[in-house]
Order: sequence, then C-alpha cells, then structure tokens
Amino acid sequence: MLEKIKQLLNEVNALQAATPEDVEALRIKYLSKKGEVSKLMEDFRSVPAEMKKEFGIRINELKNCATERINELKAAVAATETVADDLDLTRTPYPIALGTRHPLTIVKNEIVDIFSRLGFTLAEGPEVEDDWHVYSSLNFADDHPARDMQDTFFVEAHPDIILRSHTSSVQARVMETTQPPIRVICPGRVYRNEAVSARAHCFFHQIEGLYIDKNVSFQDLKQVMLLFAQELFGPDTQIRLRPSFFPFTEPSAEMDVSCTICGGKGCSMCKGSGWLEILGCGMVDPAVLESNGIDPNVYTGYAFGMGVERIANLKYQVKDLRMFSENDVRFLEEFKAAN
Ligand code: PHE
Repeated sequence: MLEKIKQLLNEVNALQAATPEDVEALRIKYLSKKGEVSKLMEDFRSVPAEMKKEFGIRINELKNCATERINELKAAVAATETVADDLDLTRTPYPIALGTRHPLTIVKNEIVDIFSRLGFTLAEGPEVEDDWHVYSSLNFADDHPARDMQDTFFVEAHPDIILRSHTSSVQARVMETTQPPIRVICPGRVYRNEAVSARAHCFFHQIEGLYIDKNVSFQDLKQVMLLFAQELFGPDTQIRLRPSFFPFTEPSAEMDVSCTICGGKGCSMCKGSGWLEILGCGMVDPAVLESNGIDPNVYTGYAFGMGVERIANLKYQVKDLRMFSENDVRFLEEFKAAN
C-alpha cells in the first residue's frame, strides 16, 4: 500500500491541465468521494494498528499535495482563459500615432532616386569642413566674397575650419580620393550666415552631382538635366540654360524649368515669365580637376547643384522657408499622403 501511495504522489506532482474541464476531471479522479484518496481511506481500515500512524501521515500528505497541485492548475488555466476571453482579433489595434517623413526628406529621396537610376552613387561628407575642401580646391580666389564672414560661419579660434556653405566640398573629397569615372550625388545640410526670414535661412539643404569621365561634354550635362527635370516635374517639362558664373565650373549655367503651375504661360508663381530657376551647373573647371589630382588633359566632367527647400517649395508651394525647420506637427502631417 505504501508503494501505491508513493506512485500516486509522483502522478499528482506531474499533473497537467489545459482547460477548466481537465482540472475538474483531475479533481474527480483524485479528490472526490470515489477518488483515489478516498479509496486509500477505505483500505486504511484494514491496516494493522501499529502501522496506522505512518499510513495516516502518508495519506494526508498525498491529499494535501493533490489539493495544492489541482488548485495551482485551476489558477493557471483561469489566467489563460481570461486572456483568451478578451482576445478580439477583429478589434482595430491600439491607436498608434504614425509619424510622417519630413517633406525635405521626401524630396531628397526622390531626387537621389532619379539620379541613382542614372548610375550615380551616393557620397556624403562632414558639415564641419576645412577651407581647402569648401573653397580653395574649388578654385575660389582668396578674396572671393563667399569666403567673407557675412557668408561663412567660422569655428571660433580656427580660421581654417568652417561650416560648409555648399556640398561641393563632398565632390572635392571624392575627387581627391577617386580616379574617374566618377558619378556621385551628394545630398546634405549647408550653412550660410544670413538673417533668417521667410525667404532665407542660416541653414538649408543641397543636392549636388558630379560626373567625370573621358569625353564628357556640355551636351551630356544638358541631356541629363532634361531627363532629371522631366522625371521630377513631369514629362512635358522644358528646361532652359542661362549663362552664369561659378568659380569651379566653366562654362557655367543657371537652369530654369517651365513653370510647374502654368506650364509656361505665365502666372504668379513664375511672376509671369513662364520659367522657374532650379539649379546651377557647368563643366568642371580644369583648374579644379588639377587641384584634386585628376588629369584635365584626359578627363572632363560636369557638376550641378540645387537647393532641396527650393524644389520642395515648387512641389508643395510652401510660402515660408522657416516652416521646414520649426517642426510644427500640423505642417508635417500635411505630407502624410506623400510618404
Ligand atoms: N555649389 C553651388 C552653390 O552652392 C551650386 C553648383 C554646384 C553650381 C555645381 C554649379 C555646379 O550655389
């Protein structure tokens, strides 16, 4: 009989149940009037008097263990039951406020994407730069007005260290480390010492591109710019190039696109001209190739640069530049659909 009690004790300790019905079945099997424990009580009567004490203790032990284990299972099953009862798989999820991409990121990604499809790869560089990469290596004369304190932010006590005022510095870094063919697109934040207003900010974003190889001509530049403008603003977009000047390109041009609002007829957006200026470009000056270790007798190239805020303005007609950096959620949420 002691053997039987031992075996039942092992059984009881290993009991498992998944539903309240399972638990009830176990209770009946072990603890009911006709259960295992009651059966032992009956057998107990025939146990010799001198052994009654030990048997009594063992049976009690078994009864307690069985009660405890069955109560434990009851509680465990009840806990999972409550979760299962509450689980409504058709309910809409907890209202999580979804963020939106910043309009400048949306526009930047779109532009980078167009150029990556044309074979350009991404290049990035530091915002805190030295004079060489921002100005000197790009053919800026020592007395060029852009180097002036009015335009450039200097890092105090380091006249040579500045905040880059254009991302052409990244192109300089690419040229000094890579031999052609070079095909890069350089997006990034730039800084200029200007009073903050609706039309100007002390920082903004640029995307510049550089293409250097053998036999690259102005024609290549023009064709790629046309393709880019049509991808960005639609297949009917026209471009026009006006002669301009940049220290690092020769010849240089300013590029306009046909007005994105009136298509060229003339409206308040294009101030009646039918054209909107969007970027600067030109053939890389041989002096720049030379300063950066590229042989100008073998290679030629073109470069272009545009302001991301400017393009975003044309796409979304944001009237005040400051809205891009104020992080007003009401403004940012307007771009949900474009995400
Ligand atoms: N770096 C010029 C700017 O900041 C833009 C530019 C880039 C012009 C490349 C021509 C070629 O305005």
